[in-house]
Amino acid sequence: MRKVVLLLFLFVLSFIVARSNVDWSMTRPEEDWRESLALGKEKLSRMHFYFHDILSGKKPTAMKIAQASTTTKSPTLFGTVMMADDMLTEGPEPTSKMVGRAQGLYGSADQKHVGLLFAMSFEFTDGIYNGSTLSILGRNPALELIREMPIVGGTGVFKLARGVVFAKTYWFNMTSSDAVVEYHANVIHY
Ligand SMILES: *[C@@H]1O[C@H](CO)[C@@H](O)[C@H](O)[C@H]1NC(C)=O
Ligand SMILES: *[C@@H]1O[C@H](CO)[C@@H](O)[C@H](O)[C@H]1NC(C)=O
Repeated sequence: MRKVVLLLFLFVLSFIVARSNVDWSMTRPEEDWRESLALGKEKLSRMHFYFHDILSGKKPTAMKIAQASTTTKSPTLFGTVMMADDMLTEGPEPTSKMVGRAQGLYGSADQKHVGLLFAMSFEFTDGIYNGSTLSILGRNPALELIREMPIVGGTGVFKLARGVVFAKTYWFNMTSSDAVVEYHANVIHY
């Protein structure tokens, strides 16, 4: 049963993997991006924050809102849909300064492998980004160490944005399925 829970909602790996030293070179230094992109008047912003997906306790921030009648028979719980209003913070602790919220849907969209469809608005509330949003839409292969998802648009300072986020599980509770995920966002915008 735990396995099934594990497969599902997660931006996963586990303590062991999450705690290991991970090569983040995929995120590439800003300089590299600038050189290889013809930016013109556009800017490249890089952001780093933590995403808290809390399913347990008195105040869960993510909850199941739908599932198919066949979901429980599926090894990937295909058809399950979650709605989240998750905190985004500066550091990994839940008490760390909040910089925004991740609001939207994720659900199991792959019948054979663990693959979530991730459709979320990241709304920022801090500093120059206050009130600006990024739209993330793409496949989240939750069991992979680093997941890459497209930024398909934005508002506020992120008008006409495009880009990519890299997500890596920082902490995961196998019992509750609560997770803290580290994000690096690379955003091209005007
Ligand atoms: C963000 O903007 C809102 C609405 O304009 C404002 O109430 C709030 O104080 C701002 N927060 C920060 C941290 O600047
Ligand atoms: C993991 O979740 C369970 C169930 O909610 C909870 O009892 C336990 O304290 C949590 N473990 C940690 C390390 O937070």
